[in-house]
Amino acid sequence: MKKTVLVSGGAGFIGSHVSVELAQAGYDVLIADNMSNCDETNYNGVCKILGYAPEFVKMDFCDSEAVDRLFAGHKIDAVIHFAAYKAVGESVAQPLMYYRNNLLSFMNVIEAARKNGGCNVLFSSSATVYGEAEDLPVTEKTGRKPSTSPYGNTKQISEDILRDCVKAYPEIKGIALRYFNPIGAHPSALIGELPRGVPNNLVPFITQTAIGKRECLSIFGKDYPTEDGTCLRDYIDVVDLAKAHVCAVTRMIEGKMKADYEIYNIGTGRPVSVLELVNSFEKVNSLKLNYKFVDRRPGDVVSIYGSPALANEELGWKAERSVEETLAAAWAWEKALAGKN
Ligand code: WQD
Repeated sequence: MKKTVLVSGGAGFIGSHVSVELAQAGYDVLIADNMSNCDETNYNGVCKILGYAPEFVKMDFCDSEAVDRLFAGHKIDAVIHFAAYKAVGESVAQPLMYYRNNLLSFMNVIEAARKNGGCNVLFSSSATVYGEAEDLPVTEKTGRKPSTSPYGNTKQISEDILRDCVKAYPEIKGIALRYFNPIGAHPSALIGELPRGVPNNLVPFITQTAIGKRECLSIFGKDYPTEDGTCLRDYIDVVDLAKAHVCAVTRMIEGKMKADYEIYNIGTGRPVSVLELVNSFEKVNSLKLNYKFVDRRPGDVVSIYGSPALANEELGWKAERSVEETLAAAWAWEKALAGKN
């Protein structure tokens, strides 16, 4: 009997890539999304890649009755919770919207899982919980720092909600995956990142500049204490990241966990600077990018990258794609989108 995995926010950038990998690993995938932060492009792309349409439910995870109906109507063996807002700057301007949406939706998921006999809960967390870490690379034992944004704070609070619910409710098991910087797109160029409006994140801004949708990329800060003066990040290919979710869900469903609540860094362990990434993008795609150096962006940390050793060891997962492969896929996706519009 196939196991069923609910992917909340499954029509989004990471959720759609995870849905593809789960289905191709033999799971039944149930995608639920309120479509507030994306359109049907990625869900349609998932259907094309798989050759069939995974069940899709349009719903808001802040609506507890709708979440209860979803769990009562399906035998859900694991839930991967992506449904959340994720724009750092927007969260500073609209904290209540972020706390309400991101925390209430997650609490509704756990509550509904409990009411329906419990299940395995995989939470989409973020390396942002580490803040400006003194010792790099960070490990899962590195202390979290008070977040500089409500977005990052909702990630910390959600981790604590999961940790405390696992302690209180034996029928709930939990894993938090702390992603570093997810980038790229599926090699089919049928799914990828679809930022609404002006991209906050680096790689979609790069690809939109290269395709001509944006005039010029602004590199925020050239005076950081790094080799080339720009910030360092751990860029993780979105397909590698998706495969880590399959490993984590399988670990839970097969009862291989060594504790009821586990945390894993999902990164490459390789720090890459903004300028290095720009240069790699130009080289691998044989183009020149229009960019300029401007002032630092408030809230940016100089450097964050993580040790994926625990995930390598316990999940049997390792990032495989090079930054060049990832940037080539990101560019192919942007060109495919341009072909569509
Ligand atoms: C990366 C680097 C910028 C845009 C955030 C969240 C994290 C995760 C990913 C949501 C920084 C520089 C960026 C631009 C630039 N969550 N940059 N020009 O801030 O590391 O992480 O997004 O998806 O939880 O914290 O990602 O891509 O915004 O920035 O120079 O136009 O690129 O200054 O050094 P970040 P980012």
